[in-house]
Amino acid sequence: MKHNVILGTGSAAPDNVVTNADLEKIMDTSDEWIVQRTGIKSRHIARPGEKFSDFAVPAARQALDMAGVEAADLDLILAGTISPDHIMPSGACSVQALLGAHKATGMDVCAACSGFIYGLSIADKYLKCDPDMNILVIGGEIVSHHLDWEDRTTAVLFGDAVGAAVVGARADGHRLLSVETGSDGNLGRLLYIEGLGSATPVTKDFDIDNTYIKMKGREIFKHAIKNMVEVSNRALARAGVTLDQVTKVIPHQANMRIIEMLAKQFKKPMSEVFVNIDRYGNSSAGTIPVALSEAVDTKFIEPGDIVLMTVFGGGLTWAAAVLEW
Ligand SMILES: CC(C)(COP(=O)(O)OP(=O)(O)OC[C@H]1O[C@@H](n2cnc3c(N)ncnc32)[C@H](O)[C@@H]1OP(=O)(O)O)[C@@H](O)C(=O)NCCC(=O)NCCS
Repeated sequence: MKHNVILGTGSAAPDNVVTNADLEKIMDTSDEWIVQRTGIKSRHIARPGEKFSDFAVPAARQALDMAGVEAADLDLILAGTISPDHIMPSGACSVQALLGAHKATGMDVCAACSGFIYGLSIADKYLKCDPDMNILVIGGEIVSHHLDWEDRTTAVLFGDAVGAAVVGARADGHRLLSVETGSDGNLGRLLYIEGLGSATPVTKDFDIDNTYIKMKGREIFKHAIKNMVEVSNRALARAGVTLDQVTKVIPHQANMRIIEMLAKQFKKPMSEVFVNIDRYGNSSAGTIPVALSEAVDTKFIEPGDIVLMTVFGGGLTWAAAVLEW
């Protein structure tokens, strides 16, 4: 019998690394504040001219190589991103062209940080209808283009990175046991970008401030914990797995204090929780697939592990997935 499985993973990020000390030089902040409040020490920031597909394509190639799947054999590309190369074509179509995945259908999943697990959810459902499909799920951002470098309350938190996974249905492999999602549009104004949509189109008076991320950090913090716990419990119930059986947790990398509070709620030691926020900051839809790829490469997750992944983001959106590695 075939199950939905993760066949390969990959990730990529700009080589330009910006440390907290670099930020101290351009805004009123300190390494001490950033590390204590967030756990972030450095982040990757795209250089001028660098765009989503520059990192989505190498991440995808790494995932395809590990999966042993040719780009030409992909049937579907789902790109979880709010920062595609262009508003049109989609990020997925840009990646499709560069990979030469001529048979694939491409579309973007606009769910902010939750974009990758939302993509996994869509892939899971496609595969239940057609188990012969090869699906590439990408998640990631060039989020730095939406940062106001004069706003210390947001600029220090984010970074650029993209991850990818190839998903298919096979008799053996790293099983995707369940994926659950949720959202609440009533809370959209807690984390948003005002402009570039049809409500605030670009006119000759367009204010660049409308392109920047705005966030009510404290309120987001509370909703993040509550909703990641709720959606994780739903995903575990659907997978038929108890929290005790979970051996590794891959949480959204938005704030070290959120990660630690989640670990406490899940009663897991930090040694079972994957953390790379110190090196990446919050790469939005990139956090989960980049962490998954690094967890695989470093053998943080190994065959036999039951892995819980959970995420939270603008929308507001949230999601969780359970894997049997
Ligand atoms: C953003 C966040 C780190 C702020 O931490 P906090 O403990 O809530 O801090 P506050 O916002 O209350 O700010 C405390 C003080 O630090 C200051 N401050 C804010 N950013 C600062 C910075 N980068 N450097 C130095 N001081 C800073 C504030 O101005 C405030 O000063 P005041 O007390 O004089 O007014 C935290 O709320 C958070 O991580 N929230 C969740 C964000 C998130 O996950 N977003 C992404 C979701 S996908």
